[in-house]
Amino acid sequence: MNEIKIFSPATVANVACGFDVLGFCLDSIGDEMVIRKTDKKGIHITKIKNFDLPYETELNVAGVSALAMYDALDVDFGFEIEIYKNIKPGSGIGSSAASAVGSVFGMNELLGRPFNKTQLTEFAIKGEALASKCEHADNLAPALFGGFTLVKSVSPLKILEIPSPDNLYATIIHPQIEIKTSESRAVLPKEVALSDAIAQWANLGSLVHALHTSDYNLISDSLKDVIVEPYRSKLIPHFNDVKQAVLNAGALGAGISGSGPSIFSLSIGQETANKVKETMQSVYSNTGIEFDIHVSKINTQGVKII
Ligand code: HSE
Repeated sequence: MNEIKIFSPATVANVACGFDVLGFCLDSIGDEMVIRKTDKKGIHITKIKNFDLPYETELNVAGVSALAMYDALDVDFGFEIEIYKNIKPGSGIGSSAASAVGSVFGMNELLGRPFNKTQLTEFAIKGEALASKCEHADNLAPALFGGFTLVKSVSPLKILEIPSPDNLYATIIHPQIEIKTSESRAVLPKEVALSDAIAQWANLGSLVHALHTSDYNLISDSLKDVIVEPYRSKLIPHFNDVKQAVLNAGALGAGISGSGPSIFSLSIGQETANKVKETMQSVYSNTGIEFDIHVSKINTQGVKII
């Protein structure tokens, strides 16, 4: 096999109480990429569709992660990468992670899978760091493993796969404004109050337990972020209105998706998730800000060959 086409999914990082450690994978939106073996050595980006992103390998997220893997290989051939980008950069649903994961996943498949998923995350984290100026894996891990994941540590990298309750659906609104991850990290405090830290780790622990036991009431009770949301929500127009409206519409909870501006909510079943979509639409249609909305089951497979 010399060429492969893959789907690299969008993801929701943080999931309210799990800043930089928790994430889950979406299935209704993602990038497509073609990875091809070539006689010419090195990594070459030959096509980028839909967004204006750099072709220079060392300036492109997919290129940097591919280079990290390529440097660990001893081969007399190279790879070409085509990127069909559907996830808008700066949207808060793991655009850079999808690019970083897609190239290394595709190369690994063409090579006969010499690396496991944690090793692929190690390579992809180099691409993610180019985009956000910080090595975090909470979008990369769910894109590679699927479902919910918890990054227990980055150094050494340790990723835990967490079960996804069968009937859990996400609804995500993406206001068409760009918030760079580096900028929305810059507004965060350097220190937090011990009482807030206690509330946050209690909620994260209980959310992980609730996912293991499919306890939807406990999921709802745990989807709270007392540390990051108070700062970042100010960057997202009408965040509080959307959050209150979707809770009234029956969602289990809502929060900022990754570093924003997207807002995610979780619901039991597709019917409620669609009702949440209508509610988000009605809040945002009066704002003059363009938006799109995705309803998605939790994608338990992650990145895949198509
Ligand atoms: N955990 C990261 C953040 C995700 O919230 O800054 C952004 O990609």
